[in-house]
Amino acid sequence: NETETLPARKAGKFTSGTKSSFSVSQIEAFCGKLPFYRQPNEVGCFSLDDKRSFHDDKRQLRLFTPPHSINFDLRAGYEDFVKRDEEEKEGLEHLLRWINRHKEKFEIVQSPTATKSFPSESPASPRGHLTKIMCTPYEKRESWQMAATLYNGTIYVSEVETEENKHKRQNMEEKHKEMCFWGYNFESYVTSQVEGSLKATNGTKKSERPASNDSEAFITVIRTRLGKHSLVFGAEVDCCAKENGDAPANYIELKTSVQPHHHNQHFTFKRYKLIKWWAQSYLAGVPKIICGYRDHNGFVKELQTFNTLAIPRLVRDKGMWDSSICLNFLDRFLGWMKEIVRKSGPDVVYLFSWREPFIEVTVSEIVDGSQHFVIVGGFLCFAA
Ligand code: A3P
Ligand code: MG
Ligand code: MG
Repeated sequence: NETETLPARKAGKFTSGTKSSFSVSQIEAFCGKLPFYRQPNEVGCFSLDDKRSFHDDKRQLRLFTPPHSINFDLRAGYEDFVKRDEEEKEGLEHLLRWINRHKEKFEIVQSPTATKSFPSESPASPRGHLTKIMCTPYEKRESWQMAATLYNGTIYVSEVETEENKHKRQNMEEKHKEMCFWGYNFESYVTSQVEGSLKATNGTKKSERPASNDSEAFITVIRTRLGKHSLVFGAEVDCCAKENGDAPANYIELKTSVQPHHHNQHFTFKRYKLIKWWAQSYLAGVPKIICGYRDHNGFVKELQTFNTLAIPRLVRDKGMWDSSICLNFLDRFLGWMKEIVRKSGPDVVYLFSWREPFIEVTVSEIVDGSQHFVIVGGFLCFAA
């Protein structure tokens, strides 16, 4: 019997149809020395237009150009806002299209001796995959699911909407939908089109108009390494500080938040918002986050700049969060994922889930064909 002579694999317990798990109950176990995170490097970028069509250029990169006086009505223009159809899942489609066109940038990855690359954080998701995984030790309310497949030595990860999140999205209150628009509208007030970008101008500087859609996006393709894990992911970028500056050092993340006044509002802001803002920008190497503080009627009268690397020092109070726990968790989680995702091929999909009661990440191997990656025009795509 040939199988008896094979060395036992750590993931050996994990066979088809069974579940394995990664415990998140003792988060102190992830405390300690920071794993090495290499300076994120932009290997390329691309744009998505108002129809979510792919363009292999920077046409959607915007410039930070705030007006002298800050007084924005974020509610203005909602009637004309065209929301993207979120039933249409894009998965890794755009990122893989970019990778497929720029294979030369991945020559090292394709050599047999190289460590696995790990395309993640699909541009389709406004909140990236790696960000979600990294915040897991402090996330007890929002579930996530990631589908992973091994193909040519690389693990591809694509997010799958959970039933709970689908239900929340489909039953979102009108007021909440409008508030999602406020975030995009803030971006339109403080940015303008980069001079000489390929995008046709119609005479009006876009900063003077409200946000018209949430489909347009500029995505940076980042290559970096966390511990032993080589990573490739796309990250949506809101704007840059100056034209032709160094990327990603030149990039700025824009956010809005209700201005905190009382002690408990400051606590909530730091505990629940700053962790996500930090994780998203830290991973992509975006050094600055500019927040527009709004009131309950959607008026922004003040901006505050946060330096991404300084955020962990602002959240040292009791009951907050620790960036070393986040990074160590991500590092060890990716190690566990590599142990699990061993069988290769587009039809073998491992589904990782974080959900109630939020104690452990579970994984199951999907063999019923309900989840699969497909190869389209030479590149791998996720098709649920
Ligand atoms: P704010 O976060 O400033 O309110 P991002 O900040 O990641 O660039 O996202 C831009 C805006 O998209 C957000 O602005 C928010 O309005 C909206 N948004 C992002 N992720 C969302 C989500 N998961 N659900 C609903 N809206 C989201
Ligand atoms: Mg954005
Ligand atoms: Mg933003």
